Amino acid sequence: MQKRTIVTGGAGFLGSHLCERLLKEKHDVLCVDNFYTGTKRNIRSMIGNPFFEVMRHDITFPLYVEVDQIFNLACPASPIHYQTDPVQTTKVNVHGSINLLGLAKRLGARILQASTSEVYGDPAVHPQPEHYSGCVTPIGPRACYDEGKRCAETLFFDYYRQHRVDIKVARIFNTYGPRMHPNDGRVVSNFIVQALHNRPITLYGSGAQTRSFCYVDDLIDGLVRLMNSASDFTGPVNLGNASEFTILELADLIVAMTGSRSKYVFKPLPMNDPKRRQPDLTLAKEKLGYAPKVSIEEGLRKTITYFDELLRTNGVTAGIVGVAEAEPTYNPHIALN
Ligand SMILES: NC(=O)c1ccc[n+]([C@@H]2O[C@H](COP(=O)([O-])OP(=O)(O)OC[C@H]3O[C@@H](n4cnc5c(N)ncnc54)[C@H](O)[C@@H]3O)[C@@H](O)[C@H]2O)c1
Repeated sequence: MQKRTIVTGGAGFLGSHLCERLLKEKHDVLCVDNFYTGTKRNIRSMIGNPFFEVMRHDITFPLYVEVDQIFNLACPASPIHYQTDPVQTTKVNVHGSINLLGLAKRLGARILQASTSEVYGDPAVHPQPEHYSGCVTPIGPRACYDEGKRCAETLFFDYYRQHRVDIKVARIFNTYGPRMHPNDGRVVSNFIVQALHNRPITLYGSGAQTRSFCYVDDLIDGLVRLMNSASDFTGPVNLGNASEFTILELADLIVAMTGSRSKYVFKPLPMNDPKRRQPDLTLAKEKLGYAPKVSIEEGLRKTITYFDELLRTNGVTAGIVGVAEAEPTYNPHIALN
């Protein structure tokens, strides 16, 4: 039987890729989004597909629809966006989760939460296994997101124990790929856009802090595997890619691949910025048969091509290899929505 599936945050970076994957698997997809950071551009290739519907809705308000499965991805994911309105960020995670868990309870639907590696905070354990309970401050500027996501996990497990809701919780580590927002301050998109413009590349701290970068297709594969996993497996389960790079190594790679003339500019580390982040993927491998396949070079190539086209179509000359660039004249917030 064809599954009726909601993707909240379906017009965002990960959500739009997930909608595409579900359509390929013959789901009837309802994309629910308030377009806070998502864009119509991200989903335009799906508009017109009879099995794809879009609903403009803010999940902090209740939602009454009939579905079989819920992927809850709605939440601004980059610090620039989630810190703009921190109270709303906490509401999306807390009120939004309550609304969607209530919907799942009423319908007997399976529900998956897109949680985050940020629940580990600035970790004292490396790499991070799921049983590590993290090192997060409840009062810092990142807390609206980190603690919001932690509270969402609490709600998922309370609905599971108290109301027997069929839950799945994924802890997503740094993911990159086409359709990331060009201006949201995330490290991969930042570096690529700066490199394509031959502008200075901003590194925070010495650039020695590490991150593990997962290409979007691998991450989506993990989410789908988790949703389809045995009903006695709830997670939380880490999803990402365990290959670890320093931020400086990432910058060097992007500069080399774009043939950029950008120089590096070093700025102080932001408050509560984690120094190391790497998923322990043992559980994902064992329970889901999950193994990321896309190398950093292949993933970056696709992402650079995407940003190069995006910047060109928004009226900016930004050749991949060493063309002299003018300063950008576009405003992504206007151009992309
Ligand atoms: N991309 C990553 O590396 C990463 C890492 C960890 C966790 N995650 C999680 O995955 C999810 C998707 O992240 P993303 O990178 O695609 O971010 P994104 O900002 O591109 O997507 C989030 C989407 O949610 C929508 N949204 C925000 N508030 C909403 C609300 N109140 N009601 C309805 N829609 C709302 C936005 O408009 C956007 O389309 C988020 O929950 C994020 O916390 C992402």
